[in-house]
Amino acid sequence: MEQIVLNNGVAMPTVGFGVYQIDDLNEAERCVSDALDVGYRLIDTAACYGNEAAVGAAIAKSRVKRDEIFVTTKLWVQDYGYESALKAFEASRKKLGLDYVDLYLAHKPYGDYYGAWRAMEKLHKEGVVRAIGVTSFWNERLADLFTCNEIKPALNQIETNVWRQQWASDAFMAKHGIARQAWAPFAEGNNDVFNAPILKEIGAKHGKTTGQVMLRWLIQRGFSVIPKTVRKARMEENFNVFDFSLDESDMAAIKSMDTGKSTIYDETDPEVAIWIGTYRYGE
Ligand SMILES: NC(=O)c1ccc[n+]([C@@H]2O[C@H](COP(=O)([O-])OP(=O)(O)OC[C@H]3O[C@@H](n4cnc5c(N)ncnc54)[C@H](OP(=O)(O)O)[C@@H]3O)[C@@H](O)[C@H]2O)c1
Repeated sequence: MEQIVLNNGVAMPTVGFGVYQIDDLNEAERCVSDALDVGYRLIDTAACYGNEAAVGAAIAKSRVKRDEIFVTTKLWVQDYGYESALKAFEASRKKLGLDYVDLYLAHKPYGDYYGAWRAMEKLHKEGVVRAIGVTSFWNERLADLFTCNEIKPALNQIETNVWRQQWASDAFMAKHGIARQAWAPFAEGNNDVFNAPILKEIGAKHGKTTGQVMLRWLIQRGFSVIPKTVRKARMEENFNVFDFSLDESDMAAIKSMDTGKSTIYDETDPEVAIWIGTYRYGE
């Protein structure tokens, strides 16, 4: 498995498995077990997904050693602020049943993320979190965070897919040594992305599926990816993206698909900000 080395020297697999919207705990545990079986060694969960316990159970039952699995979880906005963040981390760690978490992310750029970040810095210094980062931070928020705090985020997880290509964020993060990780690498299937003619044509040329083309395109841009699926055959398909390369014409053709807009939600939209700021998990 190819790896990406974060700005603090920690190595992370390039392809991981995401568990968003797998709400049933038995199903989430089964999915993570299948993913580990297929060969995934990065699992991406979050406090607000409600399935950290299932991720932990699958890891505990797996024959794969703990130190060979890279576990990411995230701190939700309702738990921001210094003291609340420390408490929320402890709750996540207990649910996961782990001594340490590999990557801990501040989930959205709203609320008291400064207080949260200082708590995350403390957790990192104590060694219970190997790397800290953020998700969905646009460039100004990212710059604000890293210029006014001690530790620079190791990674920013942002929605990136063929419809929303994020070239400006990509360049800014690359310039500042912050790893790029794509959430919703398939745009959650929106706008019939798996049947897009450009992707079908490129897939036929390389003997690959449109899903594999989308992941390969992100990896060649320097992103890590965390596709989600509940089907084992698709887990295998999504994992199998290292035996071909896209050429310049393929990359250019995919670039032409950029709409610059999210098909999921735009974090800078005030209505989305209200939704994020008031959403409470576990209630
Ligand atoms: N930081 C954030 O704010 C944030 C936000 C959203 C997501 N995430 C993370 O990113 C991960 C991935 O994003 P996502 O779950 O939103 O969406 P996604 O991975 O872009 O798309 C998932 C959808 O694609 C389908 N699919 C997967 N592989 C396929 C294949 N090979 N062929 C055809 N269909 C396929 C899945 O269906 P089936 O399951 O039925 O196969 C599911 O409907 C999440 O699980 C989560 O870990 C983070």
